[in-house]
Amino acid sequence: MKPAVLVSRAIFPDIVDRLRVHFDVQDNPEDRVFKKAELIERLAGKQGVLATGSERFDAEVLDANPQLKAVCNMAVGYNNIDVDACNARGVLCTNTPDVLTETTADFGFALMMAAARRIAESEHYLRRGDWKKWSYDMFTGGDVHGATLGILGMGRIGQGIAKRGALGFGMKVIYHNRSRLAPAIEAECRASYVSKEALLRDADHLVIVVPYSPASHHAIGAAELAQMKRTATLTNIARGGVVDDAALAQALAERRIASAGLDVFEGEPALNPALLTVPNVVLTPHIASATIATRRAMANLAADNLIAALGFGPNAGHPPTPINAAALKG
Ligand code: GLV
Repeated sequence: MKPAVLVSRAIFPDIVDRLRVHFDVQDNPEDRVFKKAELIERLAGKQGVLATGSERFDAEVLDANPQLKAVCNMAVGYNNIDVDACNARGVLCTNTPDVLTETTADFGFALMMAAARRIAESEHYLRRGDWKKWSYDMFTGGDVHGATLGILGMGRIGQGIAKRGALGFGMKVIYHNRSRLAPAIEAECRASYVSKEALLRDADHLVIVVPYSPASHHAIGAAELAQMKRTATLTNIARGGVVDDAALAQALAERRIASAGLDVFEGEPALNPALLTVPNVVLTPHIASATIATRRAMANLAADNLIAALGFGPNAGHPPTPINAAALKG
């Protein structure tokens, strides 16, 4: 009998078919979002799950399903998985790094440019029928080329954004990260390490790419926003909760910073309603990795991980991108 697995949300049907070769698959083509009780119920008897960021795997879910061996996220971020709880129970977790780096860096750069050049705000003005005449100072924004790009969180995606800024737009790139990058990587990104205070003070365009954890919760709040230039932009493509959305909405309303670009939100898909009332913010629904090619690559990598984690396929026992490889040995 094939082992049973769950595919928690709708994904490309041909990639579900790849799983069917090895597994008895319960998929979710109707794309229901499972709350905890339903997730626990759907996981009954499953050895593995191809998951997304919209389900939370915590001790309660794991304890209700002690047969579960692998949680394979179709996302690079994995703050939806309690990795310590998985470690304690020998559950392997995987994510999808690398395949989305360039696509996500493209999007972060686009969102930053849209905020700086007021693209969404001016488009809304035009759609409302408010454009009656051209004027010299209409929707004047901040330059991107030659400006100082500040990056908080300098992992793979942060490095991709740094290269775009430095090499494509002649930007001065500064970054802050938990640990400083090796000199060769700094040189490749043309990026200088600075303190968080200097990053906030000097960035014309601040892009947040730091993973969410209790340590990065509200890394940007009222106090940090107060240190930024009044002309600065802030872009968040990391996770909701890294930025205090209420404090940001207030800073935008009071023009204490110029504008923002947000792809992720605290409590998404719900939004802090204040964000919908300020004009100087570009809002997108968590789509930074959303190109067909990249979403396929993510789904295929998550499937490769699940197949290998449960002991099938060419990488049997060695999923390509484990988060907690130690669980493999347990
Ligand atoms: C998307 O947010 C991801 O973590 O892949």
